[in-house]
Amino acid sequence: MDMKTELRTLTEVITTKDGYYREETAERVVRILEETAETICHGGRYDNARLSDFNQSIQDMIMTHPSMYVWGGVGTGKTHLAVARAFEALRTTGISYWDTKAGCGNIRRWDPLTSDTLVFGSVPELMFEIRKSFNDRSAPSEGQILDKYRSAYFLVLDDLGANRVTPYCLEALYLIIDYRYRNNMPTLITSNLDPEALAKEYDDRMASRILSLGGVLGFRGSDKRRTK
Ligand SMILES: Nc1ncnc2c1ncn2[C@@H]1O[C@H](COP(=O)(O)OP(=O)(O)O)[C@@H](O)[C@H]1O
Ligand SMILES: [Mg+2]
Repeated sequence: MDMKTELRTLTEVITTKDGYYREETAERVVRILEETAETICHGGRYDNARLSDFNQSIQDMIMTHPSMYVWGGVGTGKTHLAVARAFEALRTTGISYWDTKAGCGNIRRWDPLTSDTLVFGSVPELMFEIRKSFNDRSAPSEGQILDKYRSAYFLVLDDLGANRVTPYCLEALYLIIDYRYRNNMPTLITSNLDPEALAKEYDDRMASRILSLGGVLGFRGSDKRRTK
C-alpha cells in the first residue's frame, strides 16, 4: 500500500472509533499527513519504504533512538531507512491518538494541528533553499528557513557530506544541529562520511554534536541500486 493510502486508512480508524478528532478535524489531519508524506516519499520513489524492510536489530535501534546518525556508501539504503522512519512517525501519529482514548494520554505526542511539522530535507536542498532566499524576495527568508529546520517536530537531514563544506554551510548547519541537540529534539541525519571522516570534513564541535544526538549506525553493504 502506498503511503497516502495507508495514512488515510489509519485516520479513518480514528474517526470511526469516535476518537480524538471530529470528522472535519480528521480531514485536516489527513491532509497535513498526506502533504508531509509527499515530501518524504520523493514523488513516489520511496513510497513503499517501510521499517520492516530492515533486519530486527536495525528496527530495534531505530525505534529506541529518536535521534540517529546513519552513515554508509552510496546505495546502501540510508535514504530508504530515513523515509521508513519518517513514515513511521507519521503513521504513529494516528495510532497514538487512538491510544490516548485508551488511556495513555500523558505521553507527549506530535499533534499535526498544533505542533510544527515533520521536515524531511537533504543538506544540499537546505543550502539551495538558503541561496534562493538571498536573491528571490518572494521566497522564504534565511531566518524562516533556519527556523523551519530548527523547530521541526521531527527532522530528517539526508545526504550530509554530499556538498562542499563552505564556512556558511558549516554555520547554518551548526545553528540547526546545536539547537536540536540542546533541546533533545528527534533528528535523523544520513551521510556518506564515517565518524572519523565527519570530524575531518566538518569541525570537531559539529562532529561531536552529531555523534551524540543519539544512536550511530553504519551501513557497510554493497550498492543496492546496482545489485537489484
Ligand atoms: N532494506 C531495503 N529493502 C528494499 N529496498 C531497499 C532497501 N534499502 C535500500 N533499498 C533500495 O535500494 C536503492 C538504494 O537505496 P538508498 O536508500 O537510495 O541508498 P543511499 O541513500 O544509501 O544512497 C533504493 O532504490 C532503495 O529503495
Ligand atoms: Mg540517499
